[in-house]
Amino acid sequence: MNILVTGGAGYIGSHTVRKLQAAGHRIAVLDNLSYGHRSAVPADVPFYQTDLLDTDGIETILRQEKTEAVMHFAALISVGESVKKPLLYYRNNTAGAMSLLEAMQRAGIKRFVFSSTAATYGEPEETPIFETAPQQPINPYGRSKWYVEQILRDIAAADSGFGFVAFRYFNVAGAAEDGSIGEDHQPETHLIPLVLFAAMGKRDKITVFGTDYPTPDGTCIRDYVHVDDLADAHVLGIESLRAGEAKFYNLGIGRGYSVREILDAAARATGRVIPADYGLRREGDPARLFADSGKVQRELGWKPKHTDPEEVIVSAWKWHTSHPDGYGK
Ligand SMILES: NC(=O)c1ccc[n+]([C@@H]2O[C@H](COP(=O)([O-])OP(=O)(O)OC[C@H]3O[C@@H](n4cnc5c(N)ncnc54)[C@H](O)[C@@H]3O)[C@@H](O)[C@H]2O)c1
Repeated sequence: MNILVTGGAGYIGSHTVRKLQAAGHRIAVLDNLSYGHRSAVPADVPFYQTDLLDTDGIETILRQEKTEAVMHFAALISVGESVKKPLLYYRNNTAGAMSLLEAMQRAGIKRFVFSSTAATYGEPEETPIFETAPQQPINPYGRSKWYVEQILRDIAAADSGFGFVAFRYFNVAGAAEDGSIGEDHQPETHLIPLVLFAAMGKRDKITVFGTDYPTPDGTCIRDYVHVDDLADAHVLGIESLRAGEAKFYNLGIGRGYSVREILDAAARATGRVIPADYGLRREGDPARLFADSGKVQRELGWKPKHTDPEEVIVSAWKWHTSHPDGYGK
């Protein structure tokens, strides 16, 4: 299949591009490089430095590449920034997706895979979180993605030829097995890379926010899914997608680990001491977030291979120690 991957120069997109290529698909990447890295895109993949809001430009690319399906990773991803700059998030993530969908409609492309997020659930009433749980996002980032989910439902209702899969990711972590690509967000806000930066001495310490949550060790519990497992789900999702389908799947391993458990796993994985201090809770951090991923396992036959956080951290460690400055400038 000819697939256009938006955000393919970013963390998850670049891993998925490789998995799609390995499965025999022909890929083109669209990314404005606001956060992505040109060198994360394989040299044999056509690359377009184009913004999501450039509807005409995207339409031209879709036609030129004879695109049959679009996988949409491109987005701004910082919850904290979204609270300060909501319009930026709605413009980039919601209007950006609308512009892309409009270009697809003009070019007659009707297969779409969307990166949604566990942030669309907000503070869940129950864990594990099922796909049917109430969606009450608590920040503009989560809402910017939730709106796209609703838009997709409406497009599918209006056009029986349109089919989509929206994956709601939990905490994505780890790096490619060969250590050649990995996570390089600037600024980095995700726990595992920050812990590894502390282990490498790239930062003084890691701060743990809150030790009085109603969890066994008092720290927050999250569901860490390996980026390569996540990419595998996208390959299964696009290959099985049929016209008229509107599918929503959680992508998590279905088990949560606490921040302290991640610190312990990182100490074992790296053989280093992880300097940490313990601060107050951060606003808007639910105590527990972990998925029920039974639906994607049953319907797509997906099975995460990396369910031990130590294994996930080993893969991330390989990337960070071999690329201490990430992709560089
Ligand atoms: N990393 C996680 O744990 C996580 C969790 C839930 C959901 N997600 C979603 O997964 C997707 C990928 O996340 P990631 O961690 O790889 O982020 P990332 O920042 O590494 O990648 C996003 C890419 O999109 C590009 N981009 C952003 N806005 C664009 C625009 N207007 N036009 C063109 N390109 C644009 C950036 O340059 C970047 O390369 C995002 O949609 C994110 O919301 C990520």
